[in-house]
Amino acid sequence: MVYQSKSGYTKRYIEMLAGQVEGTMVELKAVSATQMTGYGVIVYAGGVYAGKISGIKKFFRLLGSSSPQKIALVAVGAAPLTSALREKLMQDNLTAETVTSLVKPKFFYLQGGFDPDKLNIALKAMLGMMSKNLQKKQMKTPDKITEEEQGFLDFFQVANDQTSEEQLAPLVAYLKL
Ligand SMILES: Cc1cc2nc3c(=O)[nH]c(=O)nc-3n(C[C@H](O)[C@H](O)[C@H](O)COP(=O)(O)O)c2cc1C
Repeated sequence: MVYQSKSGYTKRYIEMLAGQVEGTMVELKAVSATQMTGYGVIVYAGGVYAGKISGIKKFFRLLGSSSPQKIALVAVGAAPLTSALREKLMQDNLTAETVTSLVKPKFFYLQGGFDPDKLNIALKAMLGMMSKNLQKKQMKTPDKITEEEQGFLDFFQVANDQTSEEQLAPLVAYLKL
């Protein structure tokens, strides 16, 4: 179970997962390519930042030619899950350039949380820019704001934690198959 978590929510999910399935938890920045070999099942989880799953490219680069039987790819983001969001995340992240493994990963999405106190300066600036652009759009063309964009704006209004065992259940079931 490899993860990258900037404000702690992905880490929380991986900790919950570790309580339910057997496995080793390791942060992406601490993992080497050799440590990734020899596993039948590998999970990679990362927070979603500007539509991209953080660390995903590095993860597949490290995985290299080792071929587990199952790879679960977990995105932890702000927006509530809709089928359109799921499609978009898969399209933007599971590209041939990024996903270099022989096995096609199974994709999961979990809603994380937001705490302004846990963001570093770079993330604060990035969030400020993304919110400003959406707020502008909301003012100028309110009818063009999508459900995901509205969900995104609402999510960052106040600190909140949407992590739940319930959302994790399909991933646990997949890993136990
Ligand atoms: C600067 C910034 C950009 C973000 N961009 C997105 C995004 O594009 N889509 C999304 O669903 N969530 C987005 N989020 C929300 C994070 O994915 C969410 O807070 C998640 O819980 C972070 O997980 P982590 O703490 O494990 O990194 C963004 C958060 C920040 C701070």
